[in-house]
Amino acid sequence: MREEQAEPARIVILISGSGSNMLAIAESCKKQEMDANVVAVISNRPGVAGIDRAEQLNIETQVVDHTQFSTREEFDVNLIRAIDEHSPDLVILAGFMRILTADFVRRYKGRLLNIHPSLLPKYKGLHTHKRALEADDKEHGVTVHFVSEDLDGGPNIIQAVIPILDDDNESSLQSRVQLQEHIIYPIAVKWFTQGRLSMLKGDAYFDNEPLPENGLQLTS
Ligand code: GRF
Repeated sequence: MREEQAEPARIVILISGSGSNMLAIAESCKKQEMDANVVAVISNRPGVAGIDRAEQLNIETQVVDHTQFSTREEFDVNLIRAIDEHSPDLVILAGFMRILTADFVRRYKGRLLNIHPSLLPKYKGLHTHKRALEADDKEHGVTVHFVSEDLDGGPNIIQAVIPILDDDNESSLQSRVQLQEHIIYPIAVKWFTQGRLSMLKGDAYFDNEPLPENGLQLTS
């Protein structure tokens, strides 16, 4: 848990693509909706839109290109080096499309968050919108969770639940889920910076109370 501090929380965000979640969090910080600053945005892919968007907000950016390293371990060591230059209180995965080593996850344990476009524990992994449609689910959504060594398996913090409409396809569903992503990620980050969230022995706590398996749910 982050203790109450005089200084704004320092956030480093890792991206691989368009960076719309990064933008939602960075704008929330700029509007002073939370006492935090995005001190760096790091991408594992050069030339992605998220890097341009961060630069437009005058946020420091860096690329640690995974193709330049021969092993996952070597990439992660270099990624850790880049992150730690910014002394972050919180590290945020926002569309970061790399599997991280256990050493990486352990280093930032309890201060590493991810967003996943499904109602975890349902649909870990890829193609979540397609899978929800194929299963004829009535509801779908998105989850912010602490990261553990188990892929998409760390304890849930908050979920947004939306109905699946009769005429939904993968792209319409994805667009509506993304709108929710940009609402719940800044909320979770704000809670963390306020010291309201913690992870203990693999469980998530909010105001010192254990969270249910799904996390807190926002339903629309
Ligand atoms: C989001 O849909 C998120 O749920 C998933 O990757 C996507 C990233 O989008 N993990 P963006 O780069 O934040 O626009």
